[in-house]
Amino acid sequence: MARVYNFSAGPSMLPEKVLKTAQSELLEYGTSGQSVMEMSHRSPAFDAIIKETEASMRRVLNVPDNYKIGFFQGGATQQFAMVPLNFMTTGKADYIVTGNFSNLAAKEAKKFGEVNIIANSEDKNFTYIPDVKSLAYTPDASYIHICQNNTIFGTTYVDVPEVEGVPLVADMSSCICSKPVDVSKYGAIYFGVQKNIAPAGMAVAIIRDDLLGNAAANVPTMMNYQAIISKDSMYNTPPCWCIYMTGLVMKYLEEDIGGLANMEQINVKKAGILYDFLDSQSFFNNPVEKPYRSLMNVTFTSPNADLDKKFCAEAAEAGFVNLKGHRLVGGMRASIYNAMPTEGVEKLVDFMADFAKKNG
Ligand SMILES: Cc1ncc(COP(=O)(O)O)c(C=O)c1O
Repeated sequence: MARVYNFSAGPSMLPEKVLKTAQSELLEYGTSGQSVMEMSHRSPAFDAIIKETEASMRRVLNVPDNYKIGFFQGGATQQFAMVPLNFMTTGKADYIVTGNFSNLAAKEAKKFGEVNIIANSEDKNFTYIPDVKSLAYTPDASYIHICQNNTIFGTTYVDVPEVEGVPLVADMSSCICSKPVDVSKYGAIYFGVQKNIAPAGMAVAIIRDDLLGNAAANVPTMMNYQAIISKDSMYNTPPCWCIYMTGLVMKYLEEDIGGLANMEQINVKKAGILYDFLDSQSFFNNPVEKPYRSLMNVTFTSPNADLDKKFCAEAAEAGFVNLKGHRLVGGMRASIYNAMPTEGVEKLVDFMADFAKKNG
C-alpha cells in the first residue's frame, strides 16, 4: 500500500492512527458485536459515543459552559441559511466578504433580511483581510459574520471584530482545531467537519446560550438550532459515523498531539517550511499579503498556466495529489491541514525546488 500526500482542500487527510483505529473497530465496536455503521443511534453504545465526542470537543476547544454544541447535516452551506434563520432577530446583519464562502453566506442571508457588506476584499482579489478595527459596523445588526479562514484564497484573520453587544459568528470550516481559539469572543462558531475533523457529512455549531431559542415559529425544525440542540443532536437520526470519527480525532488531538497549543506549533512550523521556500525564490509566487497568510491553505502560481498544469501532473505522478488551485484562483493550492505530516510538506518543497530548476 502506498498512501499519497493528499493536499485536497476537503475532504482531506485524516490522521493515520485514527484511520487504523476505525479499521480495527469497523466490524465490531467494543464488545457490541456490530459496527458503528450498523448501530441504532438510540443504543447505549452510541449514546456513549456521542456524549464522549461532545465532551472531548469541549475539552479540546476549551468551550465555556454557557455554550452549546450541536451536530448537523447539510454541511457548512446549510449553516449559511441557519445563521440568519436563527440569529437575525433585528432583521439585519453585518457581513465581511473575504472570499467565495463568505460571499455565499452573505447571499444566503439576504433571503432573510437586510445584509450590510461592511467590507469586501474583492478589490485585491481577496489577497488580504480588511482592518476590522476601522469598519463602520451597523449598531443594530443582529450579528457580524466572518469566514475566519478562506480556503480558496489562502487567507486568515489575525484580529477579529469585537463589537460590544453584537455577537460575532464565524465560519471556521477550514481552520477549526488548527490552533487554540478563544470561543468566548464569538456568539457562534460553525464548521463543516471534512477538513480537520472527520469525513464529509456533518457540520458542528457551537453557540452561546442566549442566542438560542429566537428562531421564528415557521423555521423548519431541521434548520432550528434550539430544536436540534435541545434533543442533544438526536432529534432525528444523526450522522452516526461522522460523530464517531469526530470523537476519534478529538481523542487523537488530546492524547497524541497533547492539545491545540501543540497542534499550533506543529502547524506553524509546517506552513513555515512552505512559505519560507516560496519567499526564497522567484519561480513560484504566493499572492497573499504576509500577515494574512493561512496556516492551512497555501496558494501559489508558477510563471504561467501551462507550467501550472505540468506541475500538478508531475506532482501527482510523484505522489503529491490534489494540488490544483480552485477554479476561481487558478495556479496551485496546498491544503496542509492538521493530518498532513510535516514530512509531506518537506518533500513537496524538494519537489517544487526541483521543478523550478528544470523549468525555470
Ligand atoms: C470556509 C468554508 N466554508 C464553507 C464551505 C462549504 O462547506 P460544505 O461543502 O460542507 O457545505 C467550505 C468548503 O470547502 C469552506 O471551506
